[in-house]
Amino acid sequence: MKKVFLAAFSFILLLLISCTAKNVNQENQYKSFKPGEIWLDTDGNPINAHGGGVLFHEGTYYWYGEYKGDSTYRNPNPNVAGWECYRTEAGGVSCYSSKDLYNWKFEGKVLEPDTVNIGSDLHPSKVLERPKVIYNEKTKKFVMWLHVDSDDYWKASAGVATCDSPAGKFNYIGSMHPNGQISRDMTLYKDDDKRAYLLYSSEGNATLYISLLTDDYLQHSGRYTRNFPEKYREAPAVFKHNNKFYLISSGCTGWDPNKAEYAMADSLLGQWTALNNPCRGVDAEKTYYSQSTFALPVNGKKDTYIAMFDKWNKTDLIASRYVWLPVSFNSDSLVINWADEWSY
Ligand code: GAL
Repeated sequence: MKKVFLAAFSFILLLLISCTAKNVNQENQYKSFKPGEIWLDTDGNPINAHGGGVLFHEGTYYWYGEYKGDSTYRNPNPNVAGWECYRTEAGGVSCYSSKDLYNWKFEGKVLEPDTVNIGSDLHPSKVLERPKVIYNEKTKKFVMWLHVDSDDYWKASAGVATCDSPAGKFNYIGSMHPNGQISRDMTLYKDDDKRAYLLYSSEGNATLYISLLTDDYLQHSGRYTRNFPEKYREAPAVFKHNNKFYLISSGCTGWDPNKAEYAMADSLLGQWTALNNPCRGVDAEKTYYSQSTFALPVNGKKDTYIAMFDKWNKTDLIASRYVWLPVSFNSDSLVINWADEWSY
């Protein structure tokens, strides 16, 4: 009896040790970025946070993104017969946390889909894309903006949600046509003076709007600019370097890749100068088969920014991957070089 007990005890001990070792291993499994490769979270599952953005808050990075359903189909809606409208169930917004940007822990869905009410913006039959989160010091709320749409992309609205903590359950407030115009691809930017802006493709995607939000970040202040009219720029990603603003965007070809371009301005609501493709090297003309989503300043590292792109897999959207690349500068000019593997 004693022997059996000892054997069972040793077995359980070994199991515990190997599980702990596995966890430690998975929490530190990456020491570098490998753009375009499968990226696993600390539970060993592929990261499901597409079209996303990253918030740095009190020592932790939070990556928010589209949580894609696991089957992709061509949308049979006749309104989209003219283009390849592949879609999958909108599964809400996921959140992952990290201390080092390489290893990400799944925090769950911070914006849950509404599986009951078919009229809800959050119903899985709808489109829910490009979520971004910023923190409002005055209201102490985390504020999320995202692109919400009907399955045929005609609703073209901006949705807003808030939460008291970065990885808690966000409360969905609703959606709108900001400044009376449609809104599709978007990003959110909070400046050093705490003013925040929504940047979104509007006027049938032809023009990129930059709109100052109200102090609580929940509405539009009425101050906005129309940029790059008739240029059809999508997938905006913005950052500030040496007091200049840089805006990376893509062309408008659905899930298919195209050439990125960037623009510069002295202030967000000021005059933007459209420049060229910042990408260099093989497949630079197709943005390495990916599309911009966010530009991330690395905390505590001066002049270090990461350009985040999605490598869409249009016929299997959940299998879309991530291309994170280092940003460099040639004098003022923005340069993005391909790297098979890199660390900051
Ligand atoms: C792209 C857009 C994506 C998604 C896709 C649907 O142009 O950037 O976020 O909306 O179209 O085809």
